[in-house]
Amino acid sequence: MNKKKLYNSFWKNGYVIIKNLISKEEISRIYSQINDLLDISLDKKNGTFTSKSLDKKYLYLKEKSPKLKSHMYDLTKYCDSLIKIAGSQKLLKISKLLLESKTVFVDTPQVRIDHPKERLNLPQHQELNQISKDVITFWIPLVNISKKNGGIYFRPKTHELGHVKYKNSHLSAMQGGKKRAKIINQLFKRKEYRKYKNLAPNLKAGDAVIFHSFIFHGTNPNLSKNIRWIYISRHNSINSAPYLKDETTTLRIPYDKDYNLF
Ligand SMILES: [Fe+2]
Repeated sequence: MNKKKLYNSFWKNGYVIIKNLISKEEISRIYSQINDLLDISLDKKNGTFTSKSLDKKYLYLKEKSPKLKSHMYDLTKYCDSLIKIAGSQKLLKISKLLLESKTVFVDTPQVRIDHPKERLNLPQHQELNQISKDVITFWIPLVNISKKNGGIYFRPKTHELGHVKYKNSHLSAMQGGKKRAKIINQLFKRKEYRKYKNLAPNLKAGDAVIFHSFIFHGTNPNLSKNIRWIYISRHNSINSAPYLKDETTTLRIPYDKDYNLF
């Protein structure tokens, strides 16, 4: 996709999909580093565990020591393989083009690990509590996405609504809990919002959904036996970061602020 088409398509629809944004090698490097972390954690806990499967190792650690599993997870975001992609030219070129700026704030990347035993599927939400109002999220599966393992679903063009308020919208997606799914469904039954239909794209490992922070998005449950590994990087605009201009505010914009004011 050429630059102009990418820019126009993103701002028209609130998202773009780029196939093969990250390579098989980059994906292998992430897995290899997570494997290193798991090996060290497991070695401390149980030196006899010998399975080579990353999924099995992770689930074994989770079962044996949820605490160490959390420590391991906390450290994944500092792995150089994740940081290298977040700060790579290919991602920066896209976010700088879309945000029309020579500088962006690159937030700490993360890997999301979703498994039937560890459900992280979130009801739909807008991406709040970031450094800026305008944030470009790169949502990149490290496994092929199917109906069975779920994945992202979102409502194209909802970025044009700006920051939408609804019952308990000042709470995070986690805090909003299961009730939120119902609230969002009701919201999009309203006459003026009915046209914003859900899209659940077909994605292969390495493909990227790149979306604006105001796009309503969530994840479907993973009903497969395997972990759904997802890489996420967020690039924040320097032009809509209140922390740069306001002495009294916090680094991240609180959920209860009116984002339409920034
Ligand atoms: Fe999100």
